[in-house]
Amino acid sequence: MNAGPWMDDVLLLTPGPTPIHPWAQAALGWPMRGHMDPDVFAHNDAIVADLRRLYASEDDAFTSLLAGSGSLGMEAGLANLVEPGERLLVASNGVFGDRMVEMGRRLGAEVHVHRVAPGEAIEPDGLRGAAERVRPAVVALVHGETSTGVLNPVADLAPVVRDVGALWSVDAVTTVGMLDFDMAAWGVDYAYTGSQKCLSAPPGLAPVAVSARAMAHVAARKVPVSTWYADLVGMRGYWSADQGGRQYHHTVPIHLHWATGEAIRAALAEGVSARGERARRVGEAVAAALATVGFAHLVAADVRLPTVLTLTLPDGMDDTAVRAALRAEQRVSLAGGLGSTAGRVWRLGLMGEAARPEPYRRLMAALAVVLPRFGLPGAAELPAAFDAAWADAAPPAPEPVAVGAAAQAAALAAAAAAAR
Ligand SMILES: Cc1ncc(COP(=O)(O)O)c(C=O)c1O
Repeated sequence: MNAGPWMDDVLLLTPGPTPIHPWAQAALGWPMRGHMDPDVFAHNDAIVADLRRLYASEDDAFTSLLAGSGSLGMEAGLANLVEPGERLLVASNGVFGDRMVEMGRRLGAEVHVHRVAPGEAIEPDGLRGAAERVRPAVVALVHGETSTGVLNPVADLAPVVRDVGALWSVDAVTTVGMLDFDMAAWGVDYAYTGSQKCLSAPPGLAPVAVSARAMAHVAARKVPVSTWYADLVGMRGYWSADQGGRQYHHTVPIHLHWATGEAIRAALAEGVSARGERARRVGEAVAAALATVGFAHLVAADVRLPTVLTLTLPDGMDDTAVRAALRAEQRVSLAGGLGSTAGRVWRLGLMGEAARPEPYRRLMAALAVVLPRFGLPGAAELPAAFDAAWADAAPPAPEPVAVGAAAQAAALAAAAAAAR
């Protein structure tokens, strides 16, 4: 292999992409197939069923993978659900809510924004006031706002959207696969994520779930969907055998399908609640350790997103220089703030394979070396502080997911069997 220093191990603790799950990594080595091959259709069928479980959707929901990142999931939903000139209400409390506003405008919707301060959650009463005033055709909001680390209370917002009769698009990019997502119970019509987030697959696919009601709405549109590529009715012709057989739509990225299918299977095998618990416990231990050198939670405990730990920085710490030193010397990649939080916080990823004590132990060791040079001598004690906090937070330790050599061997054997 033509590998340079860039191929060395770098610890990825950003809020996406996340370290690849071993099952997904193994699937990247599976053989190539054509996009109309029966093996691909069989694998796609398993993904359809698994995504219904992951999103807890109705059995008649249309689930599939869009060939693009999470932003395509966002844009495809708006493009399909909203017709030009229709009213779209976006409840926004951060960068990703604002991205929906911009997309809605470009799609020619009449966009109304219910804006909530970054770092605070969208509340049912506020949303109800806006929804009753606007009477939108579609409501869109983010479940876990990655730019601030806020978890919007989607279950509590559900009755508001139901009462105004709007279609509902929910961004589940930092939640589904790690935290409870109950599409059917909440009455969500369209939800999406990115393969590189809670699933720990490579970036490049947007797993989506669409209610039967939303699909009927798309099929009955007056104006064709502006994007041919992500027209859900066109996509359904490829993914489902129901409507007169599988039809070619576009050439899907086979290896991303293999890998994402395996990552979804791994998430279901472990169980979403076990995964959420892992994120919470590791996050608590990390926050407790980093508090000893002056980091503090940005977000109040009751609306804190467990998968993106957002911590304000110790007074006077040079954010950019510290993160550059961590990356260059310690080979640890961390994200700073985004939008209103830029320069004020670190956003530590606790999605998928990042939400384990081992990588954060390595971060503590790296910080113990780097931070004393930046005026934080107490950082030398961070590894011990983390171990003590983990011992407090952890027992009983969650069962580790079946990863490693045995799991890889099983995945490769399955691939070989599929190839026969
Ligand atoms: C909540 C949320 N929505 C949408 C996106 C966009 O996803 P992508 O970068 O995969 O296009 C992100 C990315 O971080 C996100 O965190």
